Amino acid sequence: MKTRTITLSYEEFEHTGELEPSFALLVEKAAEAAAKSYSPYSRFPVGAALLLDDGRIFSGNNQENLSYPAGTCAERTVLNFVKANFPESRIAALAVTAPGSTSAHPVTPCGICRQVITEMESLQTGPIRILLHKINGPTYLFESARALLPLAFEEAKLRK
Ligand code: THU
Repeated sequence: MKTRTITLSYEEFEHTGELEPSFALLVEKAAEAAAKSYSPYSRFPVGAALLLDDGRIFSGNNQENLSYPAGTCAERTVLNFVKANFPESRIAALAVTAPGSTSAHPVTPCGICRQVITEMESLQTGPIRILLHKINGPTYLFESARALLPLAFEEAKLRK
């Protein structure tokens, strides 16, 4: 028997002023998107914003439904929109924030969203950098989507 360890590293920025300007704008856009969330059941608005390689920014938020499993997270709302409309685009970064969260830490994406972000990353050449932002608090920067999902389910495994 062997014990193997997987390490997860990320950068923590105390204030948005420490972020590079395009990332500071991206977290701002995620917060704006959260304000338009449809989340009457959880009362937990989440916003996500995507920065494309060409500088364009798109945003989305969580969209819930009375049939709870039909709801969609903010991350997948914007990822699926961009994938549907700009399938050739390269995503540079994704920012996520939950302004109403009482935690001192930024919101972290659910497992399904991590799986989806990872697959989108695998379709393009460079990494998707992930910014997890807490309003008036820290921002965590992950250098790739893959970093957030160790031992991810991969297509190669499906074909074996
Ligand atoms: N949610 C997101 O939109 N993104 C996350 O990263 C975490 C959770 C949503 C799903 C649901 O609408 C609400 O937050 C409560 O779980």
